[in-house]
Amino acid sequence: MIRADQHLVLVGMMGVGKTTVARVVADRLGRRVFDSDAIIESRQGRTVREIFTDDGEEAFRALETEVLLEALASPEPVVVAGAGGVVLSATNREALKSSGARVVWLCADPATLVERVKSGGHRPLLDDDPAGTLQRMFRDREALYREVADAIVLVDNRSIGDVVEAVLR
Ligand code: S3P
Repeated sequence: MIRADQHLVLVGMMGVGKTTVARVVADRLGRRVFDSDAIIESRQGRTVREIFTDDGEEAFRALETEVLLEALASPEPVVVAGAGGVVLSATNREALKSSGARVVWLCADPATLVERVKSGGHRPLLDDDPAGTLQRMFRDREALYREVADAIVLVDNRSIGDVVEAVLR
């Protein structure tokens, strides 16, 4: 269970449903939602793709860290839709652990994600060989998601409503 004073952070791969689930969960809990990609895009006045193209991945990752730290510093408990790559940085992983936030890993088979990411214009890393890239990313990141997660929710073959209930539990 999530404590009333505890931030809830959703982590997981691209296409797993972090944004959608975070919105519904935030609504249910009456909390504000911090959606990493959306906040970055609105502040920068540029899309994730444009930031990757103009400034490179490293600059984008620095923005991700900024948004995460800001969300975790919110005085009231919030729901965070972390960006897929948020666990890559040791700073972010430490911040997640030391904040006392409840971190839930939404986990799917990479094969499930291939279909879901087709519409994702904000995912320049998947421009070439999305299936192979997702497999590789999952292999590289699996241990990192596991390291920060307090709970794992499997999303394969589950409806959004079902996933939301599992997250709330
Ligand atoms: C990324 C995930 C994307 C976006 C960017 C990089 C990643 O967000 O931040 O394309 O490295 O996993 P979503 O997880 O919302 O798709």
